[in-house]
Amino acid sequence: MKIFTKTKNLIEYISQFRNKQIGFVPTMGALHNGHISLIKRSVQENDITIVSIFVNPTQFLENEDFDKYPKKIEADKKVCNFAGVDILFIPSKEEIYFKDELSIVAPKTKGFILEGYHRPGHFNGVLQVVLKLLNITKANKAYFGKKDAQQLYLVKKMVNELFLPTDIIECEIIRDENGLALSSRNDYLTSSEKERATKISRSLKNAAKLISNGEKSSKKIKEKIKNELQDIKIEYVEIVDRDFNIQNEIAIGDSIILIAAFVGITRLIDNIWI
Ligand code: PAF
Repeated sequence: MKIFTKTKNLIEYISQFRNKQIGFVPTMGALHNGHISLIKRSVQENDITIVSIFVNPTQFLENEDFDKYPKKIEADKKVCNFAGVDILFIPSKEEIYFKDELSIVAPKTKGFILEGYHRPGHFNGVLQVVLKLLNITKANKAYFGKKDAQQLYLVKKMVNELFLPTDIIECEIIRDENGLALSSRNDYLTSSEKERATKISRSLKNAAKLISNGEKSSKKIKEKIKNELQDIKIEYVEIVDRDFNIQNEIAIGDSIILIAAFVGITRLIDNIWI
């Protein structure tokens, strides 16, 4: 596995792979089984797999956890090597961002609802860095998890509307044995918080059961979830279609139930695709 910290060197190295199929997994590090599943899929489907580890400052709001975001760089290198990664890119901020640079603005509606409403500007930063990373890596395919459903939707929208040549591959949410969706931020949870956090995925599973038994009202499903999560500080429970339009009536094959909630001081998101 080759490791690069300089963008210029990476671009130069990648130029020899013009005739190869390149898969790319962007990450912010502290790799867990969710990341590993994306990496393994890329290794299977491509000639060359590139992983980036970059805690992107522009997608954090001022009061968020940028400074304390978990960092496990030595362990991450081992994980990548073991998983069959060919190229690991670990740039500094200066390698990615420029002074007074132009910027990408997320769509005014879909980029500023739900996650974008509670974290205004977050998706500007995500799209800015993803665009740069796709351009640097020249990836044929890039792998994103469904856990960050709105991010996935907006990245696909950007790729489509900016006519980028990369296929965005949607990957399933990976959960621990208790159903908790894997996230680097789970590292912040105490063991009792972890147990409480499992209620989030349980409520989504129960909602899916109700829906398969015939319930179609988004209002009723949202009420049921809120009832189940009374000891958790919910930020939002919402149901959208695959285009992130708010849905009043659930449509099998075209609904996503989304939850954002605080367990202690840790903000978690989870969702289920119906
Ligand atoms: O999902 C993430 O880890 C980040 O938002 C991403 C896509 C690596 C961009 O910084």
